[in-house]
Amino acid sequence: MRTQVAIIGAGPAGLLLGQLLFKAGIDNIIVERQSGDYVLGRIRAGVLEQVTMDLLARAGVDARAKAEGLPHEGIELLFKGARHRIDMHGLTGGKQVTVYGQTEVTRDLMEARSAEGLATIYSAANVSLHDFDSRRPRVRYEKDGQTHEIECDFIAGCDGYHGVSRASVPADAIQTYEKVYPFGWLGVLADVPPVSHELIYANTERGFALCSMRSAHRSRYYVQVPADERVQNWSDEAFWDELRARLDPEARERLVTGPSLEKSIAPLRSFVAEPMRFGALFLAGDAAHIVPPTGAKGLNLATADVGYLSRAFEIFYGEKSASALDRYSDLCLRRVWKAERFSWWFTSLMHRFPETGAFGQKIQEAELDYLVHSHAASTALAENYVGLPLEDF
Ligand code: FAD
Ligand code: DHB
Repeated sequence: MRTQVAIIGAGPAGLLLGQLLFKAGIDNIIVERQSGDYVLGRIRAGVLEQVTMDLLARAGVDARAKAEGLPHEGIELLFKGARHRIDMHGLTGGKQVTVYGQTEVTRDLMEARSAEGLATIYSAANVSLHDFDSRRPRVRYEKDGQTHEIECDFIAGCDGYHGVSRASVPADAIQTYEKVYPFGWLGVLADVPPVSHELIYANTERGFALCSMRSAHRSRYYVQVPADERVQNWSDEAFWDELRARLDPEARERLVTGPSLEKSIAPLRSFVAEPMRFGALFLAGDAAHIVPPTGAKGLNLATADVGYLSRAFEIFYGEKSASALDRYSDLCLRRVWKAERFSWWFTSLMHRFPETGAFGQKIQEAELDYLVHSHAASTALAENYVGLPLEDF
């Protein structure tokens, strides 16, 4: 088999890249380790920046996100038992985010890809990358007991944090930066109406909580738990009790509970690999960087990377110039580090850290008080939350 760009991974980064390249007339094949159903079963992010919506539009897959996604113009910060609204729309000159689940983004991209008859190889075992430091890179995989090989011009490593792409790079060619947090998020998805029409980020002495949603009838809630907590220890009832205990009296009263459709614990980590390009191999999304989820930047960073990468491939094939591909890593990393900083800061502000005790709690409350009453501080939060702009090559 031969293609122009071999894409490893059919998460949002790989699928969106495939669709953007197809629109630009660039041939691509996606190789995914899991089955399509498995990929669609993962419940993850829920907030899309305008930059992501614009990229979905460029890829021709924004119809359902526009029709069914919920536009949000503000968020609420809850601390010391009271809620304070951050007017993102007013503070950013009219920007907003769209609440629309990653699962739905993935479904829309998969459907568009299969409608065009584009090649996606699901359930590919033992995927391996070869000769990406040469002009003849290749990807090998096993399927149905046979070994297959794809020859290509470039490889896009969109295979997430645990993927094979970053792991294929020689250790002396890559530098990594990492911070692991001493807690995780226990998340529940349930078919109950959201407690509030905007997202609530709560700082409490019992730990962080987040009230989010997927639609007017489906809610997504999270509570901070210790890093070594096990999901089996949490009945639905225990989860709802803990969430209720972290809300303000009005929200506590309004909270509607029900059986969980999904319940899982996600660890929190900050991670960046530099650079994001190694010869003919380009990393994008979680393969190159991880943010803690506070502020919902993970999915949005992944889409921004492939926005840059697809444009750089267009310039390469259309204008016969490698200059944009040469700038890819630097351009991505500038924006990635800003999102890393924001996600680390918002995580640090909102969570209970075992080691900082009552003093840490007081400092957080003072910063939150300053944040919601200072125009400058609120604007900085709003600008980052709605998403920083993409630069031009
Ligand atoms: P992924 O979605 O990880 O996709 C990578 C794909 O590559 C997967 O389909 C995987 O099966 C495939 N793959 C892996 N290894 C191989 C291989 N060897 N060969 C072939 N294919 C391979 N972000 C938020 O903003 N808010 C959230 O609430 C949130 N919750 C999260 C919860 C969890 C449990 C996780 C893991 C992430 C969460 N994120 C959240 C982050 C967000 O979901 C990711 O940033 C986003 O999925 C990144 O997309 P991606 O395409 O880069 O990677
Ligand atoms: C969701 C996740 C986030 O990390 C966040 O900051 C907001 C919403 C969600 O899953 O809905």
